[in-house]
Amino acid sequence: MDTIGKNVIITLTGASHAESVGCEIRGIPAGVALDMDAIRFDIDRRSARSHSFATPRQEADEPVILSGVTGGVTDGGPIAVSFTNRAYDRSEYRPVARPSHADYCAWVKSGGREDISGGGKYSGRMTLPLVFAGSVCRQLLKARGIEVFSHVSFIGSVSDADFDPTMTEPPALDPFFPLADVTKRAEMEALLEKTRAEGDTLACGAECAALGLPVGIGEPLFGGVESTLSRYLFMIPGLRSVEFGELKTFGSEMNDQFTEGGRTMTNRSFGVNGGISNGMPLIFRCGFRPVPSIKKPQTGFDLVENKPVPLTIAGRHDTAILPRGLAAVEAAACAALLDLVMEYEKGYGE
Ligand SMILES: Cc1cc2nc3c(=O)[nH]c(=O)nc-3n(C[C@H](O)[C@H](O)[C@H](O)COP(=O)(O)O)c2cc1C
Repeated sequence: MDTIGKNVIITLTGASHAESVGCEIRGIPAGVALDMDAIRFDIDRRSARSHSFATPRQEADEPVILSGVTGGVTDGGPIAVSFTNRAYDRSEYRPVARPSHADYCAWVKSGGREDISGGGKYSGRMTLPLVFAGSVCRQLLKARGIEVFSHVSFIGSVSDADFDPTMTEPPALDPFFPLADVTKRAEMEALLEKTRAEGDTLACGAECAALGLPVGIGEPLFGGVESTLSRYLFMIPGLRSVEFGELKTFGSEMNDQFTEGGRTMTNRSFGVNGGISNGMPLIFRCGFRPVPSIKKPQTGFDLVENKPVPLTIAGRHDTAILPRGLAAVEAAACAALLDLVMEYEKGYGE
């Protein structure tokens, strides 16, 4: 399924080594003046060009708007955007499934018809059009006073500090390598460097927050904030876990006691109870697997010969999905939250 959303309906198209990747966004009202510089900035935050431990695959990532925006202003119709893929070489990939990639599953599922080169539609490149769509959604959230931001919570064995869960303002963050404790950056970069030199890759985690959400976002039962966010987030390749709230042993340690104006003194629920936003900062944490393309010798699966074969992955790969994946995490969060906010604005039970 390549489409998601009820009020803002997003469709992603293309594949890693296809002619292009792109998106179509329906439900953005007419008359929104899009800030293209802000969209380009989010695209740059995801781009390998902006990160030293990212894949050397260098793409221009230039959005070509095909419809829905006239003179920089939305016209109410579907916004269609395309990004041409240039820096790809199909000769890099034989029909051999790489360990822990989607190659084998996609090949079998499609009866051997899918172009799995570069990971096909399961590639991290599909987060480029997601970032475009999320950046558009971010602008509509900002107009409502809602800010979404994130930081790297860990890379390998090096952990950052946590966000203050009772914060009332976004903290100052470096957009390209955001950390709550900037002193951790050198240690993280040294570990990335060492791991890359060893031909290996690293697990990593992100913490993402939304400030300014009113009480009441999220629909009861299947449409809650956690389940909705998770559906968007799990589109991001390599994502393995999403958590809302800190699990403590005892209820007395976990409960958030009320204070003035319905706020709570602590925020161990991370801003959501019963699937509904409670007015405190909405926070979630997510964990990414180590990038599966490692340089060490492995055993792949020859999809034509139908047998295991020795495999050494050449090609160009990231050492960890973060920090560049943060742009995708925020994009998924912005798209999910705008969809929920628009539902909330229709009125409850309508
Ligand atoms: C921004 C981003 C960049 C990624 N870069 C790479 C990469 O360079 N090499 C790689 O093997 N996997 C990379 N991945 C992860 C794989 O796409 C992913 O692990 C794979 O498709 C299997 O999906 P799964 O881990 O969700 O099962 C990246 C993911 C993202 C979000």
